[in-house]
Amino acid sequence: TLPKEIKIEGKSYQTDEWMNTPSSILSAIPRRLHLQPDHPLTITRKLIESRFPGYKTHNDLFPIVTTGQNFDSLGFPLDHIGRSRTDTYYLNKETVLRTHTSAHQADTFRNNETEGYLISADVYRRDAIDRSHYPIFHQMEGARTWDRQQAEKEGKTLAQVIWDDVARIPKHDVAVEDPNPTFHAERNPLQATHSPEEVEAIAAHLKRSLEDMVVTIFNAAKGATDTGPASDNEPLKVRWVEAYFPFTSPSWEVEVFWQGDWLEVLGCGIVSQPILNNASVPNRVGWAFGIGLERIAMLLYSIPDIRLFWSKDTRFLSQFSEQKPIRRFVPFSKYPACFKDVSFWLRSSSSAAGGAAPIHPPATPAAPTKQSPTSTQTQCPDAPLDHASVAANSASLPPSTAAMPEAAGPAANTSPIPPAAPAPIPPSSSSFHENDVMEIAREVCGDLVEDVRLTDEFVHPKTGRRSMCYRINYRSLERTLTNEETNQLHEQLRALLVERLGVELR
Ligand code: PHE
Repeated sequence: TLPKEIKIEGKSYQTDEWMNTPSSILSAIPRRLHLQPDHPLTITRKLIESRFPGYKTHNDLFPIVTTGQNFDSLGFPLDHIGRSRTDTYYLNKETVLRTHTSAHQADTFRNNETEGYLISADVYRRDAIDRSHYPIFHQMEGARTWDRQQAEKEGKTLAQVIWDDVARIPKHDVAVEDPNPTFHAERNPLQATHSPEEVEAIAAHLKRSLEDMVVTIFNAAKGATDTGPASDNEPLKVRWVEAYFPFTSPSWEVEVFWQGDWLEVLGCGIVSQPILNNASVPNRVGWAFGIGLERIAMLLYSIPDIRLFWSKDTRFLSQFSEQKPIRRFVPFSKYPACFKDVSFWLRSSSSAAGGAAPIHPPATPAAPTKQSPTSTQTQCPDAPLDHASVAANSASLPPSTAAMPEAAGPAANTSPIPPAAPAPIPPSSSSFHENDVMEIAREVCGDLVEDVRLTDEFVHPKTGRRSMCYRINYRSLERTLTNEETNQLHEQLRALLVERLGVELR
């Protein structure tokens, strides 16, 4: 049923058995929300860009890249979960929709146009459905490098040159916790070709630059939320925590204490030297970071549902302006939710004990609510809910960078460029993965599905077959869905689960 060849913005791609990208995703590519005037993602992007003067911005890099760009050039091990067809959209074995802006690191370093750059772009990942996850989101990548030979010519050490630049970063007065030493021999090692003096200087430049950006953003967000009494006048706090990425070492994450919780805001680190060496700039060393724009925009504006970014409804769009100060988003309405369950037996081949497909445990059991039925037959409420329930529902946020999970195998960041090898994870149609249920729900419902979660799972003691029950929350952001409409969607969903996954409905 999938087309042999697809054309995207004038470029043609041959598909093969790796193709798993639905047309709904392909047709969203031209939207480029981060470039749309007065869009909250555009405003967020510009706010961040304003803290990196002199950095060259790349905001329209094409989203279809090779697996070499997205994974190999960055040292992803061949068994990294991010490479699997359950997590990544493929057009063919060698061609993917980029899963992160880091896909452009090597090429941008190779062009060697400026010492610093920022890349903002749409990125694509097969993932769960809820108010903070959408298969397309936006990231900004930043990097800054210095040239050892250039420093030598100036008669300085590289560390001196970098410390001079550190001194030029604006100062802030926010409390920062940074208890760990810059290196940790096992978890966060110094790279073989780096000197501790250099990396201490680069780390200081990275940390002061990102603190400046984060403090700017969260002060703007504070201005937007400080409308009522001085209830949340807690001073801003920032902390540095150790992290792991295949393409940086040492690596860190920034967390911000925001409305009572530590929030992960971005990932970063010292660029793996082999990336720079392979990009023909072996004399350069530096840092890189990646940040998820939706999460920042949702915090800045108190936007409660990630689907809203895709809305063309003027009740959403008219609330944002590049000219005006940031103000809290006022939800125009919360239309009623309609919950429906679907239960099915997995095909016996995929329910065998110890099957290859990981099945994610239900994160939290579905909270019982007034609308929460126990069967698929429940009627949906037909009156919009009041605004109070909107506020109560606005706690979840997308991940900071939506960082990809680590490889199953041992960390392989000592040798970032793996040898050319055959396809790491062969396409498989026999194993069940939850993301396939998510994909089918999106295909049937588009943006009319708010979340999908596993509410029950068990293995039959005699037959060994596995049963799953998912609860679908049908809700439009723009209107009240009719009973007939949700029933129809649900029937289509059930049919497609059988057709695509070969499950047996219960
Ligand atoms: N690309 C990483 C992600 O998507 C973020 C990152 C960028 C981390 C650059 C370190 C350096 O999670």
